[in-house]
Amino acid sequence: MINYDYIKSDIESWLELYFKDKREYNYKIYEAMYYSVNNGGKRIRPILNILIYKLYNNDYKEILPLASAIEMIHTYSLIHDDLPCMDDDDIRRGKPTNHKVFGEAIAILAGDALLNEAMNILFSLCLTKDKSFLEASYFVAQSSGAEGMIGGQVVDILGEGKSISKEELNYMHDKKTGALIRASILSAAIAANAPKEQIHILEEYARGLGLAFQIKDDILDVVGDENLLGKSINKDMKSEKSTFVTTYGLEKCKKMCNDITHKCIENLKSLNLDTKDLEKLTIDLLNREF
Ligand code: IPE
Ligand code: IPE
Ligand code: MG
Ligand code: MG
Ligand code: MG
Repeated sequence: MINYDYIKSDIESWLELYFKDKREYNYKIYEAMYYSVNNGGKRIRPILNILIYKLYNNDYKEILPLASAIEMIHTYSLIHDDLPCMDDDDIRRGKPTNHKVFGEAIAILAGDALLNEAMNILFSLCLTKDKSFLEASYFVAQSSGAEGMIGGQVVDILGEGKSISKEELNYMHDKKTGALIRASILSAAIAANAPKEQIHILEEYARGLGLAFQIKDDILDVVGDENLLGKSINKDMKSEKSTFVTTYGLEKCKKMCNDITHKCIENLKSLNLDTKDLEKLTIDLLNREF
């Protein structure tokens, strides 16, 4: 979908190397982690992380551990999101979900381990870098927790089978998906010591992009093609989830996605930096089919 193959392949090589030669009595956990990580995700979050860093610093390879740690946290959230006690999904990234292959116990441990390994990677990165990387890592950790992604997942799960208010729906999207997308963008800007005014603009951009991304995810659940998406469709309806589509209807959601995306492009342009690649990515996400 997105023509950033060089970044994607750098991230995938980094992750590949991370799992190399980790095979003792606990080899099963690495097998399960590796199965979900090295498995065809779009890599939107690490790509965003690197593209933002590149606005300020050409040597983006030094941020690969941060970008990869974010992808690990995202992958853990997907493994847990798919569990029978959560969304109960059988297909993810075009393959059987982690618990379908390894069983629920190992899938839970694989998710836990991905989060923990991500934190190890971040701590170890911080030991070799200046304080801006520590601030960036702190932001990632906060964004993944109870005030971030997990907070949104809680509202999502508790909202099943009932209708929730628009405020709660906004909170849910802002946290379950927005928080980690925001962390991908802002942690890179923080690590790169971006000027405060630009961080404010990027925060607005990130908030819009995260919201548009989850509205589009809700739209694709209704109108998407399972083979392209690599996950089952109509799941939100079957689980009686409250989504943007159930709350506002399909047409209004498409318009919202479009309007928010154009506001995001304006945010990028107002940075007065070379944001062409980010603008393309932002539009590609609006038009994506998976
Ligand atoms: C899916 O995320 C879950 C959401 C937060 C909407 P992505 O659409 O980024 O999934 P992958 O990583 O490409 O599989
Ligand atoms: C998931 O939202 C958000 C996460 C934190 C994983 P969804 O439950 O809508 O994501 P999909 O549709 O299963 O990918
Ligand atoms: Mg879910
Ligand atoms: Mg789900
Ligand atoms: Mg969804």
